[in-house]
Amino acid sequence: MQSYSESLRLQGKRIAFVPTMGYFHEGHLALMKEAKKMADCVVVSIYVNPTQFGPKEDFSKYPRDLYRDLKMTESTGVDVIFYPPDKEMYPAGYQTYVDVEKVTKNLCGMSRPGHFRGVTTICNKLFNIVKPHVAVFGKKDFQQFVSIKRMVDDLNMDLQITGLPTVREADGLAMSSRNKYLQKNERPSALTLFRSLKLAQKLYSGGEKKSSVIISKVKKLIKKADCTDIDYVKICGTNTLNDVKEIKSQSIIVLAVKVGKTRLIDNHVFGEELKV
Ligand code: PAF
Repeated sequence: MQSYSESLRLQGKRIAFVPTMGYFHEGHLALMKEAKKMADCVVVSIYVNPTQFGPKEDFSKYPRDLYRDLKMTESTGVDVIFYPPDKEMYPAGYQTYVDVEKVTKNLCGMSRPGHFRGVTTICNKLFNIVKPHVAVFGKKDFQQFVSIKRMVDDLNMDLQITGLPTVREADGLAMSSRNKYLQKNERPSALTLFRSLKLAQKLYSGGEKKSSVIISKVKKLIKKADCTDIDYVKICGTNTLNDVKEIKSQSIIVLAVKVGKTRLIDNHVFGEELKV
């Protein structure tokens, strides 16, 4: 992969990169199509990265289907699928990790310790292997997007990070490979995430700027739905990801909710468009 990328670079070609864990949905395909507009060659990696899963998380049952994924990419113009085995990514003796200190601590960092260390480490490795000029991420994983941007800026890494808006199902559910885990009867509860973001935006547009008021109304709405268990509902600054008491500068509402056994996340930047 490295020498292929190097040969493209020597020909003056631009490389766009979409790192993924596979089991594609429309959100992934949107990233790939956007990447195609940015470069001569689009590389997609498919790698379920073990270091970003906690010991009690879903690493072994994370959905995997390479042939389905390959078929799905046919219409996207992707040039290369990079599909490395574990033993090449983390060979015996492996011991180096990248830790972005602050923006990884709040939100999912609280309930998934070590998760972002795994994400930034694998992204760093993949960037060194794929040598892209630009890498494209979905903003549904907003904390991941901010953490990777921070790493790239802090370590003077020579690539551009682009974030694209969340792609939603027709009913508003944010697309995620983990939606596959949802039971049919859990879907209405899963939709309260989107509904609660809409409520938050409505309150904000109506003049409410106090985080505690918006958060308590959002929590009330989510709790009303069956089999929901809130991990967090927070309002944070979009750069620091620290909690804000009042929405003064650009802020984001971020949610993590378990619906049955499935942990879902979603978010909305106040003032931005929220549509399906
Ligand atoms: O968002 C994902 O699918 C993963 O966290 C990523 C960025 C591919 C790193 O494993």
